[in-house]
Amino acid sequence: MSTSPSPETTSSKERRLPFNAPVRAGALSEWALVPLRLFLGVTFLFAGLQKLANPGFFNEKSPSSIQAQLTGAARVSPLHALLSHLLSYAVPIGITIAIAEVAIGLGTLLGLWSRIAAVGGALVSLSLFFTVSFHSSPYYTGSDIVFLFAWIPLIISGAGTRLSMDARMAAQAAKSLGAPSPELVAIPFAQVQALCGHFNESQCAARNNEPCDQAVCPVLVGSGDEGASSERAEAVHRRTVIVRSATTAVVGVSAALFAAGTAEIGKLIAGTPTASGVNELGATSVTTSPGQATSGSSSSSLGTLLGAAKDVAIGRPAVFTIPSSGDPGIVIELVKGQYVGFDTVCPHMGCTVQFSPSNNMLVCPCHHSEFYANNGDVIQGPAPHGLTKLDIVEGSDGNLYLR
Ligand code: FES
Repeated sequence: MSTSPSPETTSSKERRLPFNAPVRAGALSEWALVPLRLFLGVTFLFAGLQKLANPGFFNEKSPSSIQAQLTGAARVSPLHALLSHLLSYAVPIGITIAIAEVAIGLGTLLGLWSRIAAVGGALVSLSLFFTVSFHSSPYYTGSDIVFLFAWIPLIISGAGTRLSMDARMAAQAAKSLGAPSPELVAIPFAQVQALCGHFNESQCAARNNEPCDQAVCPVLVGSGDEGASSERAEAVHRRTVIVRSATTAVVGVSAALFAAGTAEIGKLIAGTPTASGVNELGATSVTTSPGQATSGSSSSSLGTLLGAAKDVAIGRPAVFTIPSSGDPGIVIELVKGQYVGFDTVCPHMGCTVQFSPSNNMLVCPCHHSEFYANNGDVIQGPAPHGLTKLDIVEGSDGNLYLR
């Protein structure tokens, strides 16, 4: 079978690109991944630092804690059984996620171990998709699936050649060993033919006028000294790994110090939780009368006994388990002697909403939906609708009942 190029491929007209590429598209394409890296890197770095700076994230009594988020996720996730078992490890899991996000963000921003950072980012996004946003409808309204696919170009190609420490270190290692730059640039073979100086009417002067053949092109396969070239490539690779590891150690220690400082500043700003704070209210409510009454709940003509009305006060609600569904519920005293109750499962993705006494509303710790405390309606989404209202009455015996 002849290997001769067809006459059309040899004409000067056909040696041009087969389409009119935008001006400087080739050079500009090297920057194509930079905006994506910038967005993903900043987002993951911010998410990690935000968790470290928020003492409530590691405090199981806080509505924004990893415990509260895992509890909510376990309720609706297809990985329900797994998440239920992980609840007792919520704090170590939270710390691991925060540190991983910082490392992934830094790696992506700096272009350092870019592919590994991208794989880590994709795994975090995948786990968030299965635990938090699995039920988003339509599916594209959940952000985690978008993040998951946004990582894929970086997994395929790494950080690219621009603003990338990986690329820079490889180029420096190659330069110091006298090897050609390891940067790869795609060039149409017609351009190689036009520039190599050996091509003439479908023949290759460098190959004794044999037909030009891309597979054996001396320009593409090098000088023939492949053994030496591969040894040099190995040396470049080794040096790159050493320099990259040393750089990683420096970046890692700096990031750890910065993260620890961020966590300390977060604690200082947050201060010590007080008895009147949200955390204390939640803890008190769980262990006082309404909760106790539920576990040994009794019914009367008024409904299911929840507990003594005196254990609920304005600005100090109580939580309980709704007997019919097993969902968490809350009872709030709006004005003296007037009570409202809600199923606290967030209509967005099932996290447990918490009462925020500072602004008298119910707030979801997962994606920050807000609800009016008087009727459960949505103040701010993403929750698509309000909380399920419960019918709470106070009996003449001074107890609260769920009807
Ligand atoms: S679960 Fe997303 S806002 Fe509540």
